[in-house]
Amino acid sequence: MPDRALVLHGPNLNLLGTREPAVYGRLSLADVDRTIRAHARGRRIAVECRQSNVEGQLIDWLHAAHRERFFGVVFNPGAFTHYSIALRDAVASIDLPVVEVHLSNVHAREPFRRRSVIAAVARGQISGFGAVSYVLGLDALLSLRHPRGASNGRAPLASRTPTGRASRR
Ligand code: DQA
Repeated sequence: MPDRALVLHGPNLNLLGTREPAVYGRLSLADVDRTIRAHARGRRIAVECRQSNVEGQLIDWLHAAHRERFFGVVFNPGAFTHYSIALRDAVASIDLPVVEVHLSNVHAREPFRRRSVIAAVARGQISGFGAVSYVLGLDALLSLRHPRGASNGRAPLASRTPTGRASRR
């Protein structure tokens, strides 16, 4: 499997650093990308980070991700999270895992941010840790490649029964 992950940043994230710093912090998008790349190096994988304010561009990148030999996508859809059925359908259409990430804790903000139309078709959602959300998103993608690679040797939580025992599938 290829050792390249795709990181997609949606609309307005190009303004990080100056955009509502009380919510999104003072790191610029370039700083966030540097943090992601440094983490990826430590994990011995490559990442490509792209940002667009255009819904169709994000859709095209999602469609091409498999062909471009990425093994998964860490995706911050920005405000599109809350209403873009086209992006939801794109995530559902591709044969790659997508982890939805947010810098801010979308569940602790305005009520309209609590709803994600992407979450149900993503492998999971990470929200509220600033740039670290992306780092956690990357590790989440990697954990899907090595589902039994947890350091304690136990099955990942998702494959355990409600009693906490690993299922025998
Ligand atoms: C965001 C949260 C969204 O609600 C918002 O529209 C953004 C950024 C985040 O990373 O916290 O643009 O996705």
